[in-house]
Amino acid sequence: MRVKTRALVTAAGLALALMASGCGADDGDGGTSGSGNKKVEVFTWWADGGEKAGLDGLVAQFKTDCSQYEFVNGAVAGGAGSNAKQVLASRLQQSDPPDTFQAHAGAELTDYIKAGQIEDLSAQYKEWGLSSAFPKGLVDSLTVGGKIYSVPANIHRANVLWANKTVLANAGITAPAKTMPEFFTQLDTLKAKGIATPLALGKDWTQQMLFEAVLISRLGPDKFNGLWSGKTDWAGADVTDAINDYKKLLTYSNKDRDTFDWTDAEKLLMEGKAAFQLMGDWEAADLDAKNFKDYSYSVFPGNGDAYQWLADSFVLPKGAKNPEGTKCWLKTLGSAAGQKAFNVKKGSIPARTDSVATDYPAYQQAAIADWAKGTPVPSCPHGSACSQGWQGAVGSAQGKFSSDGDVASLQKALVAAAKQFAGK
Ligand code: GAL
Repeated sequence: MRVKTRALVTAAGLALALMASGCGADDGDGGTSGSGNKKVEVFTWWADGGEKAGLDGLVAQFKTDCSQYEFVNGAVAGGAGSNAKQVLASRLQQSDPPDTFQAHAGAELTDYIKAGQIEDLSAQYKEWGLSSAFPKGLVDSLTVGGKIYSVPANIHRANVLWANKTVLANAGITAPAKTMPEFFTQLDTLKAKGIATPLALGKDWTQQMLFEAVLISRLGPDKFNGLWSGKTDWAGADVTDAINDYKKLLTYSNKDRDTFDWTDAEKLLMEGKAAFQLMGDWEAADLDAKNFKDYSYSVFPGNGDAYQWLADSFVLPKGAKNPEGTKCWLKTLGSAAGQKAFNVKKGSIPARTDSVATDYPAYQQAAIADWAKGTPVPSCPHGSACSQGWQGAVGSAQGKFSSDGDVASLQKALVAAAKQFAGK
């Protein structure tokens, strides 16, 4: 899927979007929803650091645009929604949805659509002038049966290698590794300099991310894309090679990885106990929020121009208590001002195509340029490549691999997961 096809935003379209009614408009009931409910519960996993800073930016814009409503923070902490998604699933099952929740564009969103848990927002897209505001490919990933089901907040990049500059300099490493063999050499150099576990790593989903980066290096973007579309065989020799590379990488990582969230691993990097961490670009925002400046970033070795994308988006759940309040949240989120207020602090780049790069910190300016020329590939742990069922199956296979290192059994489990979930 091409997510980058730029849609033209005409001046007329923009003017219409600005004039469209909704947020801030008098809806004739004294500024509250029909039921008199002012509260809008926004459910995310952005509870701390750069993630919370991004959310706070958006909330500030919501307070301006939707002053008749009250933001209620429904965040459940835990990277990549590791806890939030379970809480959400049980709330949806009990018909107790929040007013809006965070869902990844692509297969993960499709899960909610297929389950009939979220509303069609096509009419709001028209009313707010959003149809032409986002890249066509991204809108396609939010669409099923011609209906658009959510508003994207951003585009994140997953395959970024973050580094502690001082640790690298002390080991005489002056340039990013371009290939896996070069990367292994750097890791050996760091070990020889006394950095026992130079690669900081966390639990399940962070291991999935690292493994996917290795897969991209071994397979290249097209074959990697094919793993999710059914065109590439998970049983292939190149996947075996990737598992072996990944197994070797684990020997450079901290042994307590299975108990660590991504921020615990990030702390090892900040403290100089590790040199590298593979992580999405929410890390840029988090390091900034923690006032840690001694970092550098590069694409994961061997990934070339592959831009492993994912997008956070927000939905209107069926049975939400305050649908008008939710619409005001969604309209703010989709607006140029909302996207800027959020993304400047979140480390991601705006989903809107009319944003101004110079409004953003240096990292995002580089990411905006890379996105424009890179090759998009999706992410399974962050929902753009695979359904939640598939995520779970890969996650448990990798959790097992983290302790037993059994290459054949991991590959068998990956083959079985694809067989069970691909195309569903
Ligand atoms: C991703 C999400 C990002 C960031 C990250 C770490 O799934 O899309 O916005 O929050 O998890 O928690």
